[in-house]
Amino acid sequence: MGRYDEVHRRSLSDPEGFWGEAAEAIDWERRWDCVLDDSRPPFFRWFRGGRLNTCWNALDRHVAGGRAAQTALIYDSPVTGTIARWTYAELRDAVALLAGALKSHGVGKGDRVLLYMPMVPEAVMGMLACARLGAVHSVVFGGFAAPELATRIDDAKPKLILTASCGIEGQRIVPYKPLLDQAIGLATAKPATCLVLQRPMMAAAMTKGRDHDWREAVAAARPADCVIVDATDPLYILYTSGTTGIPKGVVRDNGGHAVALRWTMENIYGIAPGEVFFTASDVGWVVGHSYIVYAPLLQGATTVLYEGKPVGTPDAGAFWRVVAEHGVRVFFTAPTAFRAIKREDPEGLLIRKHDLGKLRALFLAGERADPPTVEWAEKQLGVPVVDHWWQTETGWPISANCLGIERLPVKHGSATRAAPGWDVRVLDSDGHPVKPGDVGSLAIKLPLPPGALPTLWQADDRYRSSYLAEFPGFYETADAGFIDDDGYIWVMTRTDDIINTAGHRLSTGGIEEVLAAHPDVAECAVLGIADALKGQVPLGLLVLKVGADRPAATIVEEVVRMVRDRIGPVASFRTAVVVQRLPKTRSGKILRGTMRAIADGRGYRMPATIDDPAILDEIAAALKAAGVCG
Ligand code: COA
Ligand code: AMP
Repeated sequence: MGRYDEVHRRSLSDPEGFWGEAAEAIDWERRWDCVLDDSRPPFFRWFRGGRLNTCWNALDRHVAGGRAAQTALIYDSPVTGTIARWTYAELRDAVALLAGALKSHGVGKGDRVLLYMPMVPEAVMGMLACARLGAVHSVVFGGFAAPELATRIDDAKPKLILTASCGIEGQRIVPYKPLLDQAIGLATAKPATCLVLQRPMMAAAMTKGRDHDWREAVAAARPADCVIVDATDPLYILYTSGTTGIPKGVVRDNGGHAVALRWTMENIYGIAPGEVFFTASDVGWVVGHSYIVYAPLLQGATTVLYEGKPVGTPDAGAFWRVVAEHGVRVFFTAPTAFRAIKREDPEGLLIRKHDLGKLRALFLAGERADPPTVEWAEKQLGVPVVDHWWQTETGWPISANCLGIERLPVKHGSATRAAPGWDVRVLDSDGHPVKPGDVGSLAIKLPLPPGALPTLWQADDRYRSSYLAEFPGFYETADAGFIDDDGYIWVMTRTDDIINTAGHRLSTGGIEEVLAAHPDVAECAVLGIADALKGQVPLGLLVLKVGADRPAATIVEEVVRMVRDRIGPVASFRTAVVVQRLPKTRSGKILRGTMRAIADGRGYRMPATIDDPAILDEIAAALKAAGVCG
């Protein structure tokens, strides 16, 4: 039996021994009473009775342990022409002061703090400052519009909001503060205080009494100490798309999260303390939470915060400059970023301009890594390229080639094998296991390992109905795929209406809700169709109300604007097509899958239950006329 098999087997046969040992690498103020509390299934809790502070483990512990002068954070921002570094001691001090400022505004243990921030070091400091106080942060990605932000404010009910005057998207300055003002206007749960980081490119207008200048608040603050919390207390809430327009508040706890994330750095990514890890994502996504902020710092590594794009800031060599300049050992990004680079630099000429000698591996996640992209990356970089599969809910990879344990042979198109801690099964619609190689629902046998979501924010019932009801005893990933004879996992598609656009998770149901609100739209459907760069993009199909006599192009323009204003630019919603009617089953279910196959130019089987097969020809003709058909 290989080392991977041994470790994986032990993680499932003796989870308490396995994670109990992993927990020794974390500092505890009080040790746990039990590693796994399974007294209230299907709700499982890790390290019940344990007490700790996550910020202590990410910063203070390393300062005390001899890493005070080691670089903890490198901020590399081609869009502002800045490179800045913080040692562990400097970052600890900056975070303690910011925590002091939050405390002076009444933030304490259990209070929620929402962050609506661009990729600046203050965003990292803000998250850690919350962790220091035992407050619960909720970071909202900057590409979301005001109504989405308002929904999250109303659910999390933050006492305080951290924001900045603007973000920078390539060459474009994106004002953040007006969006926040608008969102607070829409929200019912108004925060008492906002700390606003004024960036030099754009000054934000301040609301008297509520808004305070970030730097002034920090300058006036006294450093705050770490507040000890229970292992099971929430560290953060991260909202993610559900099947409706109402996002799910994924909860992360303190103890299990710290244990699991540190463990992954060593065993999945193969990163030792003191080494440089670079994740090109955004702090608004789970990848950013886990692998820009928490995991590298919990491991005593150096993390890179990159404010820029894979291309255009200034060119497709931007990532390679960062890797070379900072001596990056392991690099993590989304396949879509690689497709963007490959499109602009197909021969890899910009790659060869830089010394990537220290790079040991590239990890890809967020969407399925298509084999041509993986092969190109392998050829250009000459290091292992690891496609690994995970979700906001899981917090860390469900499956991966765990380079820190044993490098397994690669099968292009597969996200390798289940990571230790994850018992992945493929089930049919009745919940029975299928044969190796047969496609079914990818499900995980409970309990989920530490670091995965224990529940949804103040929504235990929704947690249960969304994830646990379909297959009792299992967590339903809502991904479909198969496991082959060698135990390799192949993630093929979502089973719900979630799509992945440029590595960003979107709900087509949420977009449909916006389209349906247009006064001329009688009925609509949104599909994720194949896109060479972004993997998938949403396409809207609109049936207009009888009597709607304005030009279709005007209505399409209006719905595109509505999605941008209500959900945000991140939806990448640019195309809608007006059709006479939508294909449905006899019971009235819209045949989205069949329309997607038509749009992608793939073959499809005529659904036996279709109401009127002629509609499919109409749809194909309409898509063709609109230049959509593949
Ligand atoms: N704040 C404000 N607006 C944002 C934003 C943010 N943080 N992030 C994205 N946007 C905007 C973009 O400017 C763009 O606006 P536009 O419609 O006016 O052009 C829109 O949202 C769509 O963004 P995106 O889908 O990211 O497209 P892009 O053309 O700007 O960039 C890629 C394409 C492939 C370069 C980019 O998507 C990318 O780097 N993806 C990697 C994603 C990633 O790291 N995902 C995390 C999972 S690991
Ligand atoms: P998010 O919650 O935004 O991380 O999105 C999670 C979803 O992205 C998963 O449920 C998958 O559908 C998809 N995904 C993430 N990583 C992979 C991967 N390596 N292979 C296939 N799909 C992936």
